[in-house]
Amino acid sequence: MTRSIIAGSGASIPPLCITNDMLATVMDTNDEWIRERTGVETRYFVERGTTTLDLSIPAATQAIESAGLTPADIDMVVYATMTPDHFMPGNGGLLQSKLGLRNIPCYDIRQQCAGFIYALQLADAHVRSGFAKTVLVVGAEVHTMFMPFGAATWARLDGAVDTPMPADEWERNNSFRHLEVLFGDGAAAVVIRAHEAEDGRGMIDHIIRADGTDWNRLCIPGGGSEGRPYVDETLLASGRQWPQMDGRYVFKMATTRMSEVAQQILAQNGVTVDDLSMVLMHQANRRINEYVQKMLGLPESKVIHNVYKYGNTTAATIPLLWDECARTGRIKPGDLVLTVAFGAGMNWGANLIRA
Ligand code: ACO
Repeated sequence: MTRSIIAGSGASIPPLCITNDMLATVMDTNDEWIRERTGVETRYFVERGTTTLDLSIPAATQAIESAGLTPADIDMVVYATMTPDHFMPGNGGLLQSKLGLRNIPCYDIRQQCAGFIYALQLADAHVRSGFAKTVLVVGAEVHTMFMPFGAATWARLDGAVDTPMPADEWERNNSFRHLEVLFGDGAAAVVIRAHEAEDGRGMIDHIIRADGTDWNRLCIPGGGSEGRPYVDETLLASGRQWPQMDGRYVFKMATTRMSEVAQQILAQNGVTVDDLSMVLMHQANRRINEYVQKMLGLPESKVIHNVYKYGNTTAATIPLLWDECARTGRIKPGDLVLTVAFGAGMNWGANLIRA
């Protein structure tokens, strides 16, 4: 039976390290609040002009190299992002062309923080069916594109700390502060390969779920087909081009859904937490993960955190965790690994993988 294994991985973190203290110079927040409520200590931002595609190229190249392959071996791309370079076309085809590939299928996945979970399921299904043999799966985000920061804010974050902050810019930053402190930029990728050996390795199972009922609790409402034209001054004045989040609702749903789906995938495969080597949880808020950890009875040795250094990197989070674990030996061939995530949409899911 053909299974698919993760044969290589790569990551790319941009250069600008933004501390909580730096954010406290552009909005009414402080290091203590951010650490206690979210677990975030730093996040990394791209330099102006660097796009999500730019950030993902080194991660994709590294993933292909670490699998011992060349770009010519890739026969499909799955690209997960909620911050693409353009409204259309998607980043999958753009990456294909940058890597020098032609005439292979490229999917664009839009499931936000659950994007990589969905992407792995899609890649695995194509490999198992024989449609593809070697799939490049990417998760990448440049969240700085939707930070409602103005010129003075960026000047301060770029190091010009004496730049005067206009009152209206300070106020606008304050009205988005529950969101602004959470997100960081980042990219990561894995290569999925067909694996024929009967050694138990490979993707075992996936659960992917969606419920669009409460989509507007976490969204960017404007800029789509509701407008005519889709962007005009009325839209910009309304602020509907910026993200909106009901943090408490999302927090509650994330804890419930992540715990549920993790328990379900373990139960339906007849395994327990004791059988797992590592659990890779989406990193939106450390407190969400502590809750899930408690619900599952997971010891600290089986979890990894990166929210403290990168913040929430949405679709890049799970592959960033995978890459770090693979490089540091925390995931070894044969280990049983669970991934679990919840995000806007609402979308959520889990993958069970024998590394
Ligand atoms: N600094 C200081 N104070 C703040 C900040 C800030 N950055 N942000 C909010 N506050 C204040 C609020 O104004 C409020 O003040 P008040 O009591 O005077 O009204 C107080 O802190 C408490 O606010 P809450 O919103 O209740 O704080 P909470 O503990 O819920 O934390 C947070 C907010 C961090 C956003 C949390 O709700 C959260 O993490 N939610 C989930 C986020 C998430 O998982 N997103 C999904 C992934 S994203 C994706 O899919 C794209």
